[in-house]
Amino acid sequence: MKKVHIKTYGCQMNVYDSARMADLLAPLGYAPVEDAEAADMVILNTCHIREKATEKVYSELGQLKRLKQRRAEEGRPLLLAVAGCVAQAEGAEIVARQPAVDIVVGPQSYHRLPEMIANITRGARLALETDFPAEDKFDHLPEEQATSGPAPFLTVQEGCDKFCTFCVVPYTPGAEFSRPVEQIVQEAKRLVAHGVREITLLGQNVNAYRGRGLDGQSSSLAQLIRELTRIGGLERLRYTTSHPRDMHEDLIAAHRDVEKLMPFLHLPVQSGSDRVLQAMNRGHTRGDYMKTVARIRAARPDIALSSDFIVGFPGETDRDFEATLELVREVEFAQAFSFKYSARPGTPAAVLQRQIPDEVKWERLQILQALLNEQNQIFNRACKGRIFDVLFEKPGRKMDQAVGRSPYLQPVHVERAATMIGRMARVEIAAVLPNSLKGVLVQQHAARPAMVMSH
Ligand code: 5AD
Ligand code: SF4
Repeated sequence: MKKVHIKTYGCQMNVYDSARMADLLAPLGYAPVEDAEAADMVILNTCHIREKATEKVYSELGQLKRLKQRRAEEGRPLLLAVAGCVAQAEGAEIVARQPAVDIVVGPQSYHRLPEMIANITRGARLALETDFPAEDKFDHLPEEQATSGPAPFLTVQEGCDKFCTFCVVPYTPGAEFSRPVEQIVQEAKRLVAHGVREITLLGQNVNAYRGRGLDGQSSSLAQLIRELTRIGGLERLRYTTSHPRDMHEDLIAAHRDVEKLMPFLHLPVQSGSDRVLQAMNRGHTRGDYMKTVARIRAARPDIALSSDFIVGFPGETDRDFEATLELVREVEFAQAFSFKYSARPGTPAAVLQRQIPDEVKWERLQILQALLNEQNQIFNRACKGRIFDVLFEKPGRKMDQAVGRSPYLQPVHVERAATMIGRMARVEIAAVLPNSLKGVLVQQHAARPAMVMSH
């Protein structure tokens, strides 16, 4: 048995792709390991959405090169592969800078990995696949195995055509693409047959989903969600990440009507200033966002809202930043991610005048994160004493502890619950910790045999 260590950077898309690469390598005799030292092959599944990501990959590769040399001396060769967006963007440049790399594979070519490994083992010096083939990469991947617990991600859409001026996504991997409903339903059924209870539909711009429906017409995300609710045993659905401009009426209505659709929405706004939003080419104003939030809350009053923010976008003044803080105060987010703006080569914002000094970005980030943290604590504290359905996903750090998610995506730790992994149970929230909730089991959910998850 050979061992592969896959190190995943960046977004959930990469987490999902890593699981699929592991599935793809299983028939070649590779089992996943946590430790690079123990591996016969190391894959860095990279992300280059933020600055310095590429440099980090090269520094990591420098260390792996030393491991590879040591291994060669011991007579146990180590294969080194770079996957993900850095592989796609840098291509052969990676090998020019770090010749120890054997394989460079872009996200559109993972199905070619077995062939690439075979070529290297047969003596090829390098296997490189970073093109954007016209064929559908989803057609070549093996059937999903239950490698990712009871609540995996399922990619339904890729790419983004929104061209926000700070973002590299529209340039790699390329144009928007939605998988047909039929394919997604089949895959979801397979996942459920392996014990999956919850699926998060994944896409860079997921609510722009427009796949071929079962009737041959194009289907919206809301229609796809309704189709998936028909799968018996699939108890929860989520989706991420959404763009405010694609938050259409039928999706909002699904939050009102579809019980299995969880009351959580990640809806990045990036800034609260109309001037900045325009410079970002977001295609929505602050007012548009607030109206969308109001419509969603009218449909589902308890919905937990999440967002992404960028501080220090070129030209952002103190007043613009204050407008962001005001928007946060008005909306009251359950959780959020916030980033310092970083200039990504090849994006329009990178060449804008009035780039913001790093100290100012830091200061704004601290202020924004303090406010978002406070709102997160308020949201969590309001959950104390409430009873939630929790889907248990994995063991906790302590003995016999299990960790699951509330409907609002909060992690919930429960003692004496290890046997519940893979199942849903009612949990009373007993305490609120800084990053999670602590709960106690109330009573077991409807009698359903425990699913044994392989991981
Ligand atoms: N600088 C800072 N943050 C960025 N993001 C995307 N590009 C950049 C950038 N150049 C953030 C956005 C996006 C999230 C996934 O990453 O907030 O929503
Ligand atoms: Fe990038 Fe998201 Fe904007 Fe698309 S919508 S360009 S993925 S930030």
